[in-house]
Amino acid sequence: MNIPKHIAIIMDGNGRWASERNLPRIIGHQQGVKAVRNVVKACATLGVQTLTLFAFSSENKNRSADEISLLFKLFLSVLKQEIKKLNKHNVRLKIIGDLSFFSKDIQQAAVQAQAQLSENSGLTLIVAANYGGQWDIAQAAKRAAQDAVKGNITPEAITIEGFSNYLSLADEPAVDLLIRSSGELRISNFLLWDIAYSELYFTNALWPDFDSSELDKAIESFNHRDRRFGARKQEKC
Ligand code: IPE
Ligand code: IPE
Ligand code: MG
Repeated sequence: MNIPKHIAIIMDGNGRWASERNLPRIIGHQQGVKAVRNVVKACATLGVQTLTLFAFSSENKNRSADEISLLFKLFLSVLKQEIKKLNKHNVRLKIIGDLSFFSKDIQQAAVQAQAQLSENSGLTLIVAANYGGQWDIAQAAKRAAQDAVKGNITPEAITIEGFSNYLSLADEPAVDLLIRSSGELRISNFLLWDIAYSELYFTNALWPDFDSSELDKAIESFNHRDRRFGARKQEKC
């Protein structure tokens, strides 16, 4: 079995999971956290190098103030409570996105959690919060332009590789497998640049129901893909 080095997941369907049960949406988000725990553990055990999870998109700011505030409370408590378990599993944590939108306590908890886990050498868990693929490319372009103005780089340094260094996933292996739960067939402004050659896997399972057997199915499907990267095996023309 070929284990993808980098798996990225659009964790969608928490709200529908709750409304199917006549429960408030926040219960769906809480159940979603359980699914995150299971998938992180499974990826750490399988030897996945990097797992990138879409937790809150730039556009999710358009939701009701109530849902946003409950989501932020949940995010803060997860940041504080999960550190011990993540540490036990030797997980390193990185949070990407425009964190300036979050309250000071969330920003502090994010800095602390990342620092506490920074020495770990197992799975790198990347949480995308207030993240958008378009934002990522724009912030990278801005920083590259600032470096050019300062004379740190020349415009010629802005090649595909040079530019990648400014993106949020600069130090990570390419995304091999992108998974989206809940049956939606779109990217919703998640990673854009980074999924140029990712294999895509869509499942109808709602995120709170996504467990290690769902992950196994996605990896199994990945193992049947013929990744050609635009090239062909030597064939007669
Ligand atoms: C995904 O679940 C979690 C977030 C976007 C924060 P949703 O909240 O989008 O659930 P659905 O799509 O309404 O079912
Ligand atoms: C994408 O799901 C964002 C996250 C999973 C964090 P959404 O539910 O926000 O996406 P749309 O609105 O269906 O495109
Ligand atoms: Mg959704």
